[in-house]
Amino acid sequence: MALQTSFFAQDEQDIATEFLEQGYVIRPVDDKEGLDALRLGIVEIACEHLGIDVPNDIDHFLNNFQDHVSIENLNDLRLNTYRKMNAKEWFRPTYYAAGKSKLAALVGNELAMQNRVNLSIQLPDDDSSLLPIHADSFGGETPYQVVQWLPLVDCYKTKTMFILPRPVTERVYADFKKYEGQGLDALFEDVKDELVWLDVPYGSVLIFSPNNLHGGVINVERETRWSMNCRFTGLFTPYRGAEKKLGSYYLPITTRAVTKTGMQYREPSGFQE
Ligand SMILES: [Fe+2]
Repeated sequence: MALQTSFFAQDEQDIATEFLEQGYVIRPVDDKEGLDALRLGIVEIACEHLGIDVPNDIDHFLNNFQDHVSIENLNDLRLNTYRKMNAKEWFRPTYYAAGKSKLAALVGNELAMQNRVNLSIQLPDDDSSLLPIHADSFGGETPYQVVQWLPLVDCYKTKTMFILPRPVTERVYADFKKYEGQGLDALFEDVKDELVWLDVPYGSVLIFSPNNLHGGVINVERETRWSMNCRFTGLFTPYRGAEKKLGSYYLPITTRAVTKTGMQYREPSGFQE
């Protein structure tokens, strides 16, 4: 074996550098077959709800979902799909498998995962599911996390989410006081030319730090957006607040054997020489 000059492999170093510079990375999923099966499982749930057969062209069906459901009925369908997909035994492990190698490089191999994966469905011109510019830590989320964002269709332009790259986010935070009393709309106006509209084709995964400013606008493309998102954090990182704690909101998923033996170990007593 050759001598090593770094603790990281080159590909781990590359993804870490990109993440540290920009606050996000986009990569092909680790397991495309798994993603296809997961997507089919979601379509089956949606079709059952609508009382229709599963179509042959899944991509076309999802992109043109506005032909199958009205904006009024969308939230019922979304909530039903969200509940049923999260109840499947295979759902969270398969979701994790899509980004596994990137999560390992960026977060670690001993992880906690949000208890449920969120589902977002945005029909063209639907203004009911906007996400104004924000950082998740404003709402009490731990800053020691990433969001794994996984689209079920090609996402681009207003059919995707936007992020403010890390250097711009930091510049804004350095002068954040000036937005006091002005609201987030003023902030959005100031930075709108520097936002990145993340181009994430189906088969790719976006992993981003929600410490970066991000959000979404009305989808004015002619196709429906389907995307999922879920938080991952290192098992041994600080957790914030009672609501977002380990064991309920975050669940350990890859606890290693040595951690288990360490946690189970009790110093023996009672023996005296
Ligand atoms: Fe967010």
